Amino acid sequence: MSAKDEINLSNIPEHIAIIMDGNGRWAKEKGEHRIFGHSSGVESVREALTAASEIGVKYLTLYAFSTENWSRPQEEVNALMDLLVQTIANEIESLNENRVQLGIIGDVSNLPESCQKALHEAIEATKHNDRVTLILALSYSARWELTNAVKKISQDVANKLISPSDVDEKLVCSYLATDGIPDPELLIRTSGERRISNFLLWQLAYSELYFTDVFWPDFRKENFFEAILNYQNRERRFGLVSEQL
Ligand code: FPP
Repeated sequence: MSAKDEINLSNIPEHIAIIMDGNGRWAKEKGEHRIFGHSSGVESVREALTAASEIGVKYLTLYAFSTENWSRPQEEVNALMDLLVQTIANEIESLNENRVQLGIIGDVSNLPESCQKALHEAIEATKHNDRVTLILALSYSARWELTNAVKKISQDVANKLISPSDVDEKLVCSYLATDGIPDPELLIRTSGERRISNFLLWQLAYSELYFTDVFWPDFRKENFFEAILNYQNRERRFGLVSEQL
């Protein structure tokens, strides 16, 4: 029996975020180059997206490249950028067939021109799709996002577009890269690491965290459904007591 059969379809997270980790270690275990781990991880992206779509998850955010990842060896950075450009270009048709809209969060201006162009084309080509939104976090870090938000809020205060008394949680949300996107109810991290690693620090305030030892290239639909089942067996209290829920 698949974990999918046990899922309660009336309690599906609207938004799931994933830290795809363990590509390098997976490749090393096989005596392969780290880049082989990244390219093998593309199939896991397809699996997670298909699984999300099958059970009605509306937003899937994947941490594909962090601000810190720019400090990796240049060869690996170049290979990851090439892989992204290739994958995005190859997948546009399939994204459209499956009614997937593509979005990005991150400091896109830092990405190579070819990557920006491929992303822009894919975003444009999928903008009317309404089944699932796939958000790639690219050149993203939460501290970058929050610093940026503070900078823009201060500029708008200085320009008298808003006043300091307007600043509340709702306004801060509207200055984040995720403006308009609900907070993830569930964060999944693969590979046995138990950290947030500068990912969606504001948005994960009340998210359930799920860690699995599976390396990302081994991650399959069944692993995704197991994470949802685990989520459904938790009680989300948001600071209240059980009896108040
Ligand atoms: C972390 O593993 C993974 C990444 C930094 C890159 C993830 C990218 C992909 C799966 C490629 C395709 C993605 C899309 C969206 C097309 P790691 O290298 O940190 O692994 P390690 O911790 O074992 O070294």
